[in-house]
Amino acid sequence: MTDLFSKFDPVIEQRETLLESGVTDPFNLVMEAVESPTVAICNGKRTILLGTYNYMGMTFDPDVIAAGKKALDEFGSGTTGSRVLNGTYSGHRAVEQALKDFYAMDHAMVFSTGYQANLGIISTIAGKDDYIVLDIDSHASIYDGCALGNAQIVPFRHNDVDALEKRLKRIPEGAGKLVILEGVYSMLGDIAPLREMVAVSKANGAMVLVDEAHSMGFIGEHGRGVAEAQGIIDDVDFIIGTFSKSVGTVGGFCVSNHPKFEILRLVCRPYVFTASLPPSVVATAATSIRKLANSADKRAHLWENSKRLHAGLRQLGFTLGTDEPQSAIIAVIMPDLETGAAMWEALLNEGLYVNLARPPATPANMTLLRCSLCALHTEDQVGEILGMFAAAGRATGCID
Ligand SMILES: Cc1ncc(COP(=O)(O)O)c(C=O)c1O
Repeated sequence: MTDLFSKFDPVIEQRETLLESGVTDPFNLVMEAVESPTVAICNGKRTILLGTYNYMGMTFDPDVIAAGKKALDEFGSGTTGSRVLNGTYSGHRAVEQALKDFYAMDHAMVFSTGYQANLGIISTIAGKDDYIVLDIDSHASIYDGCALGNAQIVPFRHNDVDALEKRLKRIPEGAGKLVILEGVYSMLGDIAPLREMVAVSKANGAMVLVDEAHSMGFIGEHGRGVAEAQGIIDDVDFIIGTFSKSVGTVGGFCVSNHPKFEILRLVCRPYVFTASLPPSVVATAATSIRKLANSADKRAHLWENSKRLHAGLRQLGFTLGTDEPQSAIIAVIMPDLETGAAMWEALLNEGLYVNLARPPATPANMTLLRCSLCALHTEDQVGEILGMFAAAGRATGCID
């Protein structure tokens, strides 16, 4: 009998080698208590959170929590059903209305996660004779959406407008084309040149989908994302987003102005064949989204935090994913996995949590310490964070 698990041997070996070095398992941390969007207790110790994607700090917002509790009392703990059967409550309609208002778009469809939103929308709209042209650094959920569908997949070099244009021009005349981009790429925290890419896509007859998971709430005048910031949101056919980052709960969505969009509710399998979000979740999401629309001050403070951390880390001598801060993600590039894990552990011992990212999730086989800032990090906390990076960096030999 062939052991079906033998394919995992290289990962098992890599993990064992890492743990044999005595380092704490970076992928098995427990948050024993969570005090606020920026502080938790880990291993009995107060820990500043710098790797949660809780960009706007909505998880402890009193209005958000009150809305969730009220919905739990009034509608129960779950819907036990699909959106197309017994799983659409007034709260699901309300959160879709909140999204339509937030993005100023005609249609909004809520999924149980952002992962499922990509899975569902991509696999459903791009069919057998269609082509999907996507940035090679796209998120796993985008690739999985492609894998679930039947379209031809054509990747192009990360953020390369000419490469996108070349791929588009090679596609047979008359074929359906979907270009998939992200506003912010979450590994390095860099943004896409959406203005140029959308123009090239439109000139070549393609529809455009932009995943704005890491920009919603923060980037753009109204927090609609990079497409808004670059002034081309009206040219984007589909925006995908998640409730698991700035919105501060769980869920995913697609918004669009396409006149036939609503038919997707009947033909999109990851929407139809799964249970809908619990009433408390959609209530917290709707409240959060409505507050995010009016959060210009928080957006400004988050930019300040991002700029300060980026400048401070550079000054300490770390190599970063971008020359300038482009989003609320700042990636610190580590020389290898062992050093990355040692630095991750040293930071945790200092009282700081960041995300350790390694191949295959990362581009170019990089090991990264990904920092995601929150609008609720105070100036003092950013100072503390820089002090911890200095101490951990020196202890592990990452900086002089
Ligand atoms: C770009 C991007 N799209 C989609 C998702 C999936 O979001 P969710 O956590 O809601 O499944 C993520 C989450 O990491 C993401 O980074």
